[in-house]
Amino acid sequence: MFAFLRPLIFRLDPERAHGLTLAALKRLPLPAAPAPDPLLETRFAGLTLPSPIGLAAGFDKDAMVWRAMLRLGFGSVEVGSLTPRPQAGNPRPRIFRLEEDAAVINRLGFNNGGLAAALPRLAAHPRLGVNVGANKDSADRVADYVAGVRAVRDRAAWITLNISSPNTPGLRGLQGDELERLLRECGAARGDAGPPLFLKVAPDLDGEQIAHIADTALASTVAALIVGNTTLARPGTLRSRHAGEAGGLSGAPLFGPSTAILRAFAGRLRGRLPLVGVGGVASAEQAYAKIRAGASMVQLYSAMVYEGPGLPSRLNAGLAALLRRDGFAGAGEAVGADL
Ligand SMILES: Cc1cc2nc3c(=O)[nH]c(=O)nc-3n(C[C@H](O)[C@H](O)[C@H](O)COP(=O)(O)O)c2cc1C
Repeated sequence: MFAFLRPLIFRLDPERAHGLTLAALKRLPLPAAPAPDPLLETRFAGLTLPSPIGLAAGFDKDAMVWRAMLRLGFGSVEVGSLTPRPQAGNPRPRIFRLEEDAAVINRLGFNNGGLAAALPRLAAHPRLGVNVGANKDSADRVADYVAGVRAVRDRAAWITLNISSPNTPGLRGLQGDELERLLRECGAARGDAGPPLFLKVAPDLDGEQIAHIADTALASTVAALIVGNTTLARPGTLRSRHAGEAGGLSGAPLFGPSTAILRAFAGRLRGRLPLVGVGGVASAEQAYAKIRAGASMVQLYSAMVYEGPGLPSRLNAGLAALLRRDGFAGAGEAVGADL
């Protein structure tokens, strides 16, 4: 069905296509996907999920359709990024489909309706994560993250601090000297009973930055690292006419580089902090490769654009078959198997 609709969808502006997708997901009665194979049950950072395959942040920024996405077979959904105040984002067009490259470039700039508007749509659901960010014109960005943590701590299974969007000028600077203060203040805002805090980093990091982030996270209350966001790099292999657009690149070309960075974090952390692997996953083999490189959970977004709503179920079935083929009794056993 999706293969038939895809050429029609691809004739629409990507942002409009996404808006229609959200409207359809909200209204159409979706049949529930088959329950994932019990082999896929995933436990890390205090979470218990039926599958390690999750929907990455940005698809459901305003928490409109996360229940429908769970029904499609995702083990978890991360909504957001949400900022304290509503924000329009950058001028359109600001999402580009790089069809020849199975990739996306976006420079949305945290367009969202704000924390207060989304709050009634959140719930203390064991498979719902909430991703928070900072307003572009904020005078104190750390305070924005603290406000995000306070606002959603009773309605999230985990909270992700997204300090790695390339589309808010200066935001990635929080990965540097200010990281310790950010994590300390957000840890205090979370409190002892709050959900685990995850930190989402960029895939554009050198060895020194990886060491700094890993060591700072280890010394904090952060419960997992998400590696990572979209990239500012433009691999020479890109063929689409949109390759030169400003923004963050995601999808197929990000798989190799983001998995290399994931492996570098896993090497530094040596099992002391769980990792979430994100970037270019479109197949069960790729999800499996992220897990073997050290990911306890895998998230994706761009492949949904190219592969459609059947993807999470196909990944669940394919991943279970790969684990079984290699003699693993559970997904957790394969985490870091290649290290
Ligand atoms: C259109 C679009 C919007 C995104 N918005 C967000 C966001 O608001 N917050 C965030 O943490 N990541 C956001 N991301 C990044 C994704 O969560 C993910 O980290 C990245 O796209 C790499 O995964 P993928 O190759 O599977 O898409 C966005 C990605 C895309 C394509």
